[in-house]
Amino acid sequence: MTLEITRRTLIGGLGAAALAAPAILHGQMLFNAYPFRLGVASGDPTPDGFVLWTRLAPDPLADGGGVPMAPIGVDWAVASDPGFKAVVQKGTAIARPELAHSVHVEVTGLLPDRPYWYRFMVGRDRTLLGRTRTLPLPGANVRALKFAVAGCQNYEDGLFTAFRHMAAEDVDFVFHYGDYIYEDRWRPKDPGHDGRPRPTVRPHIGDKPFSTDDYRRRYAQYKLDGDLQAAHAAAPWWTTFDDHEVEDNWVGLEDKYDTPAAVFRLRRAAAFQAWYEHSPVRAGMIPGPTGIAMHRRARYGTLLDAHFLDTRQYRTNQPCDDDFKPDCPAVTDPKAQVLGTEQEAWLARSLGGKRARWNCLAQQVMMMRLDRRTGDTVVPIRNMDSWAGYMTPRERLLERCRGLGNVVVLTGDEHQNFAGELATAKGETVAVEFVGTSISAGGDGGDVRRDAAEVRSHNPQLKFSNDQRGYLICSVTPDRWETRFRVMDRVTVAGEVSTRAVATVEHGVAGVVMG
Ligand SMILES: [Fe+2]
Repeated sequence: MTLEITRRTLIGGLGAAALAAPAILHGQMLFNAYPFRLGVASGDPTPDGFVLWTRLAPDPLADGGGVPMAPIGVDWAVASDPGFKAVVQKGTAIARPELAHSVHVEVTGLLPDRPYWYRFMVGRDRTLLGRTRTLPLPGANVRALKFAVAGCQNYEDGLFTAFRHMAAEDVDFVFHYGDYIYEDRWRPKDPGHDGRPRPTVRPHIGDKPFSTDDYRRRYAQYKLDGDLQAAHAAAPWWTTFDDHEVEDNWVGLEDKYDTPAAVFRLRRAAAFQAWYEHSPVRAGMIPGPTGIAMHRRARYGTLLDAHFLDTRQYRTNQPCDDDFKPDCPAVTDPKAQVLGTEQEAWLARSLGGKRARWNCLAQQVMMMRLDRRTGDTVVPIRNMDSWAGYMTPRERLLERCRGLGNVVVLTGDEHQNFAGELATAKGETVAVEFVGTSISAGGDGGDVRRDAAEVRSHNPQLKFSNDQRGYLICSVTPDRWETRFRVMDRVTVAGEVSTRAVATVEHGVAGVVMG
């Protein structure tokens, strides 16, 4: 008689151990190089904790990061002092191959509104110390808050020295408005906004990303940057995404190449997975079949409610075939959406609550309806990828802000600094918007673009514009919001930072004063 070995008899013979989860590896000999080359990060704080992030990647640009394809135990610890004498929490997290051996530890049980320091360890290897901070209790009487606003870090266009300067600003948190990576492949650059050539300061590795491994490699290249690592290690981040984490100007399930939705969904899923793997966010943001539940709120005591919005996933397609165009009828489409019905209702409930002294809408694309026309053009030109292309939901949101006197909108995407005011269709000013420039996208830039005076002349609501790179520092007290525009002299070489302008908003007055 022949013995027929089937899968069932084989498994039966091997016993239950063969069916158990793969063994978790620990210890010294797993890597042939330092495994924490992508640094550490923290984010999404609560009054009793935060998320701690790292990723094992001794060979970050290789598929798999140079890590054995097995779950690996990563020890972590949190201390209440920078000398790491008083360890208050510690544990072991599992870095899983499914998630590129990234680690997202959701620490709880800590005290509110204070700094903590953390690190990760595997065998003898340990990370540098990161510094983070818990939220105040929801009802705490917070008298001052200081935070940074940054994004749009095109690796090819410049160095991330702005992040190094930002790390030294001693902020309570960082709001990142997206474009953490750029999906372009290396190519000769078009001229910049002033007609000057934009040199490729350091090229992207690899072609345009489509697979999860492609996107992972792009994140790894960016996260190897020491300046970016310093900014993560200095403060907790509230991370969002915009378009370039996936593809230029995507919305919903549409890209600009008319790729079938069912096909683009696959690419978006690959990009979202890599975004999650490299962001210090909670497990609730692991991408699912419908995308990522990204919008969320942070309450800084009674001082500030920060609403982190998602202006990509639920948006209807750009009107007028996108780009900078004259208005077409679709701009006033009554069915158009920017936030989608669910997120918009969530935001309306939050704004209606009036709990905090200030409401901050931390989001991606510009809400000011700027007329971009220059030269001989006789009709207004709008950015159809901004809220200006979506007049119906824009007006609904501005109407919600009416009478609050405490709404400040924070935006990215434009690669310019702007400060201005937001008015309803009836002409009532209801909120202030600060647009942060870019860490590097667009290259060195200059104080103002060639067309700046013309754009200002068509847009009385616009109080300030500037075309240098950098970030915003917002200092908020119960009666006053101050935004400092921190700008870099150069980004094609390691540059210096300075304050180009200071804008202030008095509580109860929906207007901005430039100083
Ligand atoms: Fe950007």
